Amino acid sequence: MTPLSTRLSSHSNLAQLSADWLVAGVFQDSPVEAELDGMLGGLLTRLRESGDLTGKHLELVPLLNVSGIAAMRLLLVGLGNRANGSRATWHDAFAAALRSITGKKTSRVGLAIPETVSPLAVGVGALQGCFGPGIRKTEPSRFAPDELILHPAIDEALLNRIRAEGAALTFAKELVNAPPCDLYPETFAARIAENSRVECEIWDENRLRTERMGAILGVAEAAARPPRLAILRYRTAGDAPTLALVGKGVTFDSGGLSLKTNDQMADMKCDMAGAAAVVAAIHAAADLNLKVNLLGVMPLVENMPGGRALKLGDVLKARNGKTIEVLNTDAEGRLILADALAYAAEQKPGHIVDLATLTGSCMMALGTEIAGIMSNDLKWSERLQATAKQAGERLWPLPMDDDFAANLKSNVADIKNVGANRYGGAILGGKFLEQFVAGVPWAHLDIAGPAWADHDSPAKDAGGTGAYVRTLIELAANYSNSN
Ligand code: BES
Ligand code: MN
Ligand code: ZN
Repeated sequence: MTPLSTRLSSHSNLAQLSADWLVAGVFQDSPVEAELDGMLGGLLTRLRESGDLTGKHLELVPLLNVSGIAAMRLLLVGLGNRANGSRATWHDAFAAALRSITGKKTSRVGLAIPETVSPLAVGVGALQGCFGPGIRKTEPSRFAPDELILHPAIDEALLNRIRAEGAALTFAKELVNAPPCDLYPETFAARIAENSRVECEIWDENRLRTERMGAILGVAEAAARPPRLAILRYRTAGDAPTLALVGKGVTFDSGGLSLKTNDQMADMKCDMAGAAAVVAAIHAAADLNLKVNLLGVMPLVENMPGGRALKLGDVLKARNGKTIEVLNTDAEGRLILADALAYAAEQKPGHIVDLATLTGSCMMALGTEIAGIMSNDLKWSERLQATAKQAGERLWPLPMDDDFAANLKSNVADIKNVGANRYGGAILGGKFLEQFVAGVPWAHLDIAGPAWADHDSPAKDAGGTGAYVRTLIELAANYSNSN
């Protein structure tokens, strides 16, 4: 994870903050910020009275010629109602604002943060608006400013958190956006290994064989690119319990012999977003020197058709000895996660979270903005939901009653990888994975919807989103204090 090119600092005097742009947040249901309004000779009050400045969430009002402040231009961004404010609304507002001005070159951009608004959300949101997905275009379409200057002044620890979280989100998005010709198991593994503060093991296909990772090897069988398993260890909390993070890393999902259609396949470079979130969060935790013990496990494969491909009816033996009948090669995520979860559980962590772009069914149920959470432990699930909410991200629980598992009974093996029909598809994925965690408190986040944006929106670029990176960093930051 490379540091972002944009520098971050803070400044205590708003009038003297010299910049190409000052971006200022404005609430809808509160009076305009008195301090700024005073410097501008009541301009904000007049704009509000004329109806030009409502403060509605994501409203942008650019003013190109202002006097009374050192900044050359002012961009007012609506924060919505104060009472509905969250890290999500503030993050998105400043992301939208920066997206709108970084189409042109700027050197310094100031951020005026109203009281009660989280500088972390503002700083990270602003950074997200600075970096678009078009880094492979011959002519750049986005120009990150040299410097973002936050007002009011904040301490260095918080600035570091913003830097690390911003870099982690950008890193995760970049990995997801990377084309599958560049990012495949070996090259992905190299990116995972590149943080010197984190211990990293990369297992190749030979090691996977001696380690009995039959499910990962099965999925990878037809691919010209061999599989890898990346294992990260970051330990700074002594004997405290370990938090295990497991991420699905399918660098391209063609469906295998259960081949996807062209439309279904078009965005399937995104199928490693779970692994991207895990590596980004662990690198950020290390850069922040968080006191926490983390284990990251990322199975990396391409799911391809071919003469050696998995066939329907094949039986694989997973790391924990369970046999799996494969009746749909497009349900490959749960196969590679079976080995990865079994390995994670063997390490006796306090808790496990896996993140996976696992099912289209979850998108059918919850849409594109909310991940499903499935768990074997209500307390752990509730803690994750609270952590996500705190981080400004959304999770929604799906039921995990035991009768669902009956759909996964196989005639020839211990379990089959799909049910007889498509009903409850996200839950069946969760029930399948549950078989491999050996009773360790675990939760599965099906991030198929939120991991990828089909189109641009005011606050978000099309492509990888970095979904749940913020949740994982928040989780890692609090994990050791509250066990
Ligand atoms: N990677 C897909 C799930 C997916 C779909 C992610 C759309 C992002 C957007 C996964 O491997 C898959 O193909 N799942 C199947 C499971 C089915 C065969 C039980 C699906 O959802 O159709
Ligand atoms: Mn698939
Ligand atoms: Zn997949």
